[in-house]
Amino acid sequence: MARTKLILSIVVGIFVIIQLIPVNQTNPPIVRDAGAPEEVRDILLTSCYDCHSNESIWPWYSRIAPGSFLITRDVIEGRKHLNFSEFSDLNEYDSTKIAAEIIEVIKEEQMPILPYLLLHPKASLRDSEAKILINWAKTLYPK
Ligand code: HEC
Repeated sequence: MARTKLILSIVVGIFVIIQLIPVNQTNPPIVRDAGAPEEVRDILLTSCYDCHSNESIWPWYSRIAPGSFLITRDVIEGRKHLNFSEFSDLNEYDSTKIAAEIIEVIKEEQMPILPYLLLHPKASLRDSEAKILINWAKTLYPK
């Protein structure tokens, strides 16, 4: 009994202490938005912007460790790969790469990632939405 209590206190103690570890949940300024047409932007906002823009919505549970560590890592990694708020100065190489990658992840149903979909079922792309995003991504190829 005393042992259970001790273990429980340790677990609670660790939980409390990890809350003090700082996480970088910030939204940097928008440099230049991708400027997608409204129909496309609505889908991107619902399904992609939390991890691929500087307009992430950080819900209350995203602030609680240890989940906060995983969520923050996904956003930082997501922004590194593709940031719809930093679409400035895309050269031919970048726009070709971004267009091809967006089309690929949608066709392969790799995005949004599964843990996110469990918490945001509405972010799941319907066939019609996937088509709209793919058609828009094609316009990103250099002319
Ligand atoms: C919960 C966060 C999250 C959401 C929501 C999300 N992504 Fe991602 N995305 C990531 C992470 C993390 C990576 C980098 C690691 C990886 O490739 O799995 C990534 C990588 C990518 C890449 C680069 C793939 C590559 O080949 O390097 C593209 C393109 C992409 N996402 C597009 C999208 C699109 C389009 C949406 C919306 C339909 C979306 N993502 C939604 C987290 C997310």
